[in-house]
Order: sequence, then C-alpha cells, then structure tokens
Amino acid sequence: MKAIQRVAVVTGANRGIGLEVSRQLAMTGLKVILTSRNPDQGLRAVDQLRHVQYDVDFFKLDVTQPADIQALRQFLEREIGRLDVLVNNAGVFLDPRDPRKAGFLTGKIDTLEATLEVNLKGPYRLMQALIPLMVKHHYGRIVNVSSGMGALSEMSSGYPAYRISKTALNALTKLAAEEFRDQNILINAASPGWVKTDMGGANATRTVEEGADTITWLATLPDDGPTGGLFHDRTRISW
Ligand SMILES: NC(=O)c1ccc[n+]([C@@H]2O[C@H](COP(=O)([O-])OP(=O)(O)OC[C@H]3O[C@@H](n4cnc5c(N)ncnc54)[C@H](OP(=O)(O)O)[C@@H]3O)[C@@H](O)[C@H]2O)c1
Repeated sequence: MKAIQRVAVVTGANRGIGLEVSRQLAMTGLKVILTSRNPDQGLRAVDQLRHVQYDVDFFKLDVTQPADIQALRQFLEREIGRLDVLVNNAGVFLDPRDPRKAGFLTGKIDTLEATLEVNLKGPYRLMQALIPLMVKHHYGRIVNVSSGMGALSEMSSGYPAYRISKTALNALTKLAAEEFRDQNILINAASPGWVKTDMGGANATRTVEEGADTITWLATLPDDGPTGGLFHDRTRISW
C-alpha cells in the first residue's frame, strides 16, 4: 500500500521563517502549499524550492481576507483532498521600533487592531476553516508561531500591540488544543527566538534554520506528541 503523502499549509511563506519552514517540511517529504499575500513573491519562493525537486504548490493567501481563506479551503477540498498540517506563521510587528515611542501610554489602538487582524484573527479564521478537514482524517498538526514577547511568565514592558497579539495567540492555541485533544489534532505554539529576518533585523542572534527547527518538529509530531504547549528549542516553556 502506498504511504499517504501528508499536506501542509504555511502562511507568510514568501520569506523569513515561513520560507524556511516550507523548505524543511518539503525536505521531510510533505507536500507543501506555500502561501503568501503577494503572488509574485510567493511564486518566486516556490521556484526556489521546486528547483531542488520539492513538492511545493503556491496559493495566494492574505490571512486578513476571509474570501482568500474560503478559497484555500475549497482548493484543499477539491484539488488536494486533505490537509494534515497548518503553520500559522504570517505575522506583523507594527509597534514603533524606538522603545521610547513604544510604551504603554503612547500605544495606538489602531496599531493594536491592525496587529490583531494578522497575528490573532488570521490564525483563528484559518483554524476555523481548516480544522474540519483534519477532523475528517483524524489527523492534524497545527503550529502557531508565537514569541517569547507574548509569554506572561516573562512579560516585560514596551511594544504593547505585538506582545498582546502573541499572548492572545497563545490563548487561542491552548483553547483549540483542549477542544481537539481526543481527535489526534495536536495544536502547539512555538517561540523561534530572535531570528535574522526582515522582522528580527540583522542583529538577531539566530539563523532562520534555527528559528524554523522547533516549528518543523511540532508540525511533524508523532501521534503521542504533546498538545497545548508553548515550545522553544524543542522544549516546553511556560506561557
Ligand atoms: N524574527 C524574529 O526574531 C521573530 C521572533 C519571534 C517570533 N517571530 C514570528 O515569526 C513569524 C515569522 O516572522 P519573520 O521573522 O519570518 O518575519 P518576516 O520576515 O517579516 O515575515 C513575515 C511574513 O508574514 C507575512 N505577512 C504579513 N502580513 C500578512 C498577511 N496579512 N497575510 C499573509 N501574510 C502576511 C509577510 O508577507 P509580506 O512579505 O507580504 O509582507 C511575510 O511573509 C511571525 O509570526 C513573527 O511574529 C519572529
């Protein structure tokens, strides 16, 4: 009997950590649906991976657009027939970078709303649309790409919109994990550390390979793997 080829969707995968997670998942033999909001950039990223014979398709997805999410669900249902892995990687950091301008009192509600739209509501919409496909085959792995900046256990000051969005993403992770615990759908959050990407900047201490590693590991957990946790370097850390 031919082994099932598992199928993964990665959001915000045209660059940075999302592109590297796509590469790592494809390298383990998964079919990857690489998504991005900009089709030209997404197709360029797909070309890069196909070049090395990986099984990668492109789908245009802006995580703030419910119509894009519904189109993705239909594509998966009609053309692919299944979904096994969802990596909610797309994210924005919209607070001012200057810490003197990124305090609690100067935080703009508009910035918070725009951040939540991508970092929280996007993953929630995608999970609502795509978990039913996982339930059908009694298999699913979801990784929400969070941040140490959202962990209440190490909450510091500054950058309120980003921090709040990642704390809320952690709550979404735990809530969904509890609901689907008995259906072989393992839902976890990952903190990649400070990674050299457009968001992390050139001074960051980690490579994209290092940042993506725990995400890939959580996306390919065995059936007896953990669910409802926050992980850094393949180790559970406190929320
Ligand atoms: N780098 C770090 O140090 C670090 C640390 C902790 C957590 N993280 C998290 O890791 C994830 C990836 O970040 P990164 O460092 O790789 O950042 P990045 O290089 O800035 O990449 C962010 C990705 O998200 C996409 N994106 C933004 N808004 C989107 C939307 N509405 N719909 C679809 N895609 C959208 C971007 O697409 P465009 O190219 O179209 O803008 C881009 O592909 C994020 O969730 C981030 O919060 C990063």
